[in-house]
Amino acid sequence: MAMYSFKNDYSEGAHPRILEALSEYNFIQSDGYGEDRFSDKAAQFIKQAAQNEAVSVYFVSGGTQANLICLASLMKPYQAVIAAETAHINVHEAGAIEATGHKICCVPSEDGKLTPAGIQSICDLHTDEHMVQPKVVFISNASEMGTVYSLAELKALRLVCDQNDLYLYMDGARLGVALAIEESDVTLKDITDLVDVFYIGGTKNGALIGEAIVFCNPDLNHNFRFYMKQHGGLLAKGRVLGVQFETLFQDGLYFELATHSNRMAQQISESMKSLGVPFLTNSPTNQIFPILPNTVIEKLLKKYAFYVWSKFDETHSAVRLVTSWSAGQAVINEFIKDFSEIYSQS
Ligand SMILES: Cc1ncc(COP(=O)(O)O)c(C=O)c1O
Repeated sequence: MAMYSFKNDYSEGAHPRILEALSEYNFIQSDGYGEDRFSDKAAQFIKQAAQNEAVSVYFVSGGTQANLICLASLMKPYQAVIAAETAHINVHEAGAIEATGHKICCVPSEDGKLTPAGIQSICDLHTDEHMVQPKVVFISNASEMGTVYSLAELKALRLVCDQNDLYLYMDGARLGVALAIEESDVTLKDITDLVDVFYIGGTKNGALIGEAIVFCNPDLNHNFRFYMKQHGGLLAKGRVLGVQFETLFQDGLYFELATHSNRMAQQISESMKSLGVPFLTNSPTNQIFPILPNTVIEKLLKKYAFYVWSKFDETHSAVRLVTSWSAGQAVINEFIKDFSEIYSQS
């Protein structure tokens, strides 16, 4: 077998139904810049899935773009965003947010999540006009560490935001897998009720490219299309995003794919746990972080690609394994078998 990659959930192209839809509608003419009938329909399906007709939906091509356009549109020049130290905007976006002129105030976090106490600690430190003014709380769900917010946690974050006059923004690059976990007590509707702005990631859940930005707070999206255009996010071929989200949301494909991704990762983590393997975080989603002997990692890397995430001690490292919407059961079974053999010999 050729080397199989657990590096991420966007290693394949797109779900075949998306390609079929793009092909089927190929010769239908449409207006540009997101004003096409496919984007309209996709927005309608997303509103239905969220049981909330009042939200506004916009499509952009990627996660970094969604984050920087939304965050820039939410803040005045002197305002700042609060995020976990591990947040994608802080670690993996090449300073894109800072390049819009806004500071990121970081809070230490072991599991990738923010807490009300962490947010309050930043607010307490920023008291006057000699400092930046915290204005937006950035959370990602699922987080960069695979963890997920419960309904109670989201409500607590909303409360601390209201108490400190902050907007709550959710990066949903991996929202599908967060909502699709077995023990989830959060719905898309809850999210539209609790956050000001969020986005639904397509890139990591079966789309070719694309993220759907959802404004839940009706006071915040005036002139948003100007921000999109100025930041290169208003695509003439917006239809490409519309067709994809229409396909993903018209009959639940989006959640089917996310459920599958989670199931594949959880099969791996359950088999590893049964062998006594410890994990960096308790992730119920499709990104898992087992801590393995370096000797085992070396052997596994001969057959499988994945990221060695962080050094744990002199002889162990945490690795990141990500399963995608298209991971087949056969390859997961083979990985579990190979891992058990290598691990039991270590
Ligand atoms: C939580 C999160 N946000 C944003 C992004 C950025 O997405 P993109 O690479 O499409 O800019 C990623 C990508 O890995 C991510 O995991």
